[in-house]
Amino acid sequence: MNQTTDTLVPTSSAPDAEGGPRRYFVTSFGCQMNVYDGERMGEMLAAQGMEQADAREDADLVILNTCHIREKAVARVYSDIGRLRREDGSKPMIAVAGCVAQAEGEEIARRAPSVDIVVGPQAYHRLPQLIEQARLNPSGSRTAAIDTDMPAATKFGALPARARQPRPSAFLTVQEGCDKFCTYCVVPYTRGAEISRPFTDLVEEAKALVDGGVREITLLGQNVNAWMGDDDKGRSRGLEGLIATLADIAGLERIRYTTSHPNDMTDALIAAHAEIPQLMPYLHLPVQSGSDRILKAMNRSHDAASYLAVIDKVRAAKPDIALSGDFIVGFPGESEADFQATLDIVRAANYAQAYSFKYSPRPGTPAADMEDQISPEIMDERLQRLQELLGAQQHAFNAATVGKRTRVLLERQGRKPGQLIGKSPWLQSVHVIDPAAKLGDLIDVEIMSAGPNSLEGAALALVTA
Ligand code: SAH
Ligand code: SF4
Ligand code: F3S
Repeated sequence: MNQTTDTLVPTSSAPDAEGGPRRYFVTSFGCQMNVYDGERMGEMLAAQGMEQADAREDADLVILNTCHIREKAVARVYSDIGRLRREDGSKPMIAVAGCVAQAEGEEIARRAPSVDIVVGPQAYHRLPQLIEQARLNPSGSRTAAIDTDMPAATKFGALPARARQPRPSAFLTVQEGCDKFCTYCVVPYTRGAEISRPFTDLVEEAKALVDGGVREITLLGQNVNAWMGDDDKGRSRGLEGLIATLADIAGLERIRYTTSHPNDMTDALIAAHAEIPQLMPYLHLPVQSGSDRILKAMNRSHDAASYLAVIDKVRAAKPDIALSGDFIVGFPGESEADFQATLDIVRAANYAQAYSFKYSPRPGTPAADMEDQISPEIMDERLQRLQELLGAQQHAFNAATVGKRTRVLLERQGRKPGQLIGKSPWLQSVHVIDPAAKLGDLIDVEIMSAGPNSLEGAALALVTA
């Protein structure tokens, strides 16, 4: 229909047609699955005609994609919400997504009335409708548009196809949720029951990513190694079957997966590390504690010996594998002897890199009500001792690569002029200055020096551009 200026009427309900947001900005906290969700939310809004803002201040829709895993992560969300009000008193439309949204729901809008939308991790495909609903809510009405449903059909089918990626390395969520119910952990409550995405959907998404310039894919799941599915011939496959199929995609140079549970580390997956060259020599396998008594109280369903036995098998298949882990210090009832057992398992396992946390009691989890909670002072002191040991192991792992030739996928610009930063097969950050190289190239470098967190490399040869 042709319109003249004097008869201008709104003709569409697209987000920007009637004063809805035009520019979005997503900030993701927490795990890589949240980062993946944040990217998919952005891609969905872009497909609706919105633009990604360069900075949060330029956005008229800010999505805080939150994490509920520890108390500190949650506190940060509320301070961030407060900071979104501008000097002139105005504010962007604010959406709280992710695990805090799921865990706290309406409570968020009560505590922070400037929040317009609350959307859980399994409901974000309905973000466009929620934006519309929030736009229609009268300003200052203190009514938020809330959706924390966990629908039986997953959100993935309702999302647009993957867009071209800005970086050569991408995430791909293959499995979501958790049925393990470790007694300290909120994930089974915030992400729901374990589901595996269908094999063919994943192969299709991986191909779309590679078509869009991606050369490395990290398969994600809270228990990624519990992934199961039927392949295109109807055969039931585990994660190794999916990895083997993805390895056949031309142009996909590297495959990684995280996070794995020790009990789901099958022989077939371990063998894949020896058999599939694209599968990188890195394994994130959290143990949490080295004390069998504490592991039992945590409901981890493995003990220290069975964990070390898994590591032995993995190293037999792939001797140079870089091992990573997660640790919690100060779980209720943890004695000095229990903590010593954690130091012992660290010495026995020998990590290339690891994450360690002070136990944080989470509302609604069984451990929060356990007796004998550990004092903050003891937790601080134990964390420091553990991190000293883990830091020394990481430094030793990095130092052992000095003088060696290694392959690096260049992923981003460094801070120094001409500097590029990439990853080694063992997930170490490698800094190189090579005027001939560009982001996305796979190059061979010689490692010249090693710091605690990164390596300096000298470029030797381009492998593939
Ligand atoms: N699914 C993975 C990771 C879950 S969350 C696994 O099973 O290991 C990431 C890490 O956060 C956990 O491995 C654990 O080390 C830590 N974590 C989870 N809940 C915590 C809590 N209540 N306090 C402190 N650390 C916690
Ligand atoms: Fe949380 Fe345990 Fe599940 Fe990991 S396995 S997500 S720590 S409940
Ligand atoms: Fe955090 Fe949720 Fe991930 S609680 S660690 S964002 S699954």
